[in-house]
Amino acid sequence: MVTSVNVSGLSKSYNTGSGAVPVFLDLSFQLAAGESLALTGPSGSGKSTLLNILCGVEGVDDGSMQVLGRDGATLTADQWAGLRRRRVGVVFQDSNLMPAMTLEENVKLRADLAGRSFGPVRDWLARLGLAGLEQRYPDQVSGGQRQRAALAMVFAMGPDLVLADEPTGSLDRHTARDVADALFHWQRTQGCGLILATHDLALAERCDRRLDLAEGGQG
Ligand SMILES: Nc1ncnc2c1ncn2[C@@H]1O[C@H](COP(=O)(O)OP(=O)(O)OP(=O)(O)O)[C@@H](O)[C@H]1O
Ligand SMILES: [Mg+2]
Repeated sequence: MVTSVNVSGLSKSYNTGSGAVPVFLDLSFQLAAGESLALTGPSGSGKSTLLNILCGVEGVDDGSMQVLGRDGATLTADQWAGLRRRRVGVVFQDSNLMPAMTLEENVKLRADLAGRSFGPVRDWLARLGLAGLEQRYPDQVSGGQRQRAALAMVFAMGPDLVLADEPTGSLDRHTARDVADALFHWQRTQGCGLILATHDLALAERCDRRLDLAEGGQG
């Protein structure tokens, strides 16, 4: 199996005023190239923490992981940043849109940084329901529209792996379904890996596999 993510014996705790609080212990799972995995589990079970770890924003206490064939333990902060720019697309709820640039300029910038052409992704703004909003600034659109622009930015970079934290979390049911349709269609046609954290079980069921962190996360 060609793996895009391989996690083995991962343990993570946070240091708080009252000592180390474990988030997960001895977590192991694999994601094949082109496969999609839903991370589920109650609030506080560690879904966002795991996504942060997988893109190098958060460290671990123990265990090993390979992301797109790179050994997480040996990657420098600069190398992680390079992966996030070109190969690992990250969609967080607090999307990182540049406030002084329009939605279209934001998407184009992401394509430029990844060395991609903007042309093929222009249509995605419309497919994500943002037609007519391309020239607006992030503070001139709703939270759900910003989230969709963040998704378009990830499509624009043409990543090998997408990490998405509640990608439909702030959307109404109808829009959430359209955005999920776009996300899965794009993921399957590109053949990239996808890990998404969600409380929405209907969305989780659309993924190839599910990892429930509340159950100890042995996937
Ligand atoms: N920077 C931090 N310092 C200390 N504890 C933290 C920190 N970030 C998260 N935690 C704790 O780690 C646990 C896991 O948090 P995380 O955000 O990963 O959960 P989650 O599964 O994403 O939850 P939600 O469904 O609410 O988004 C929680 O108990 C949280 O309080
Ligand atoms: Mg979370």
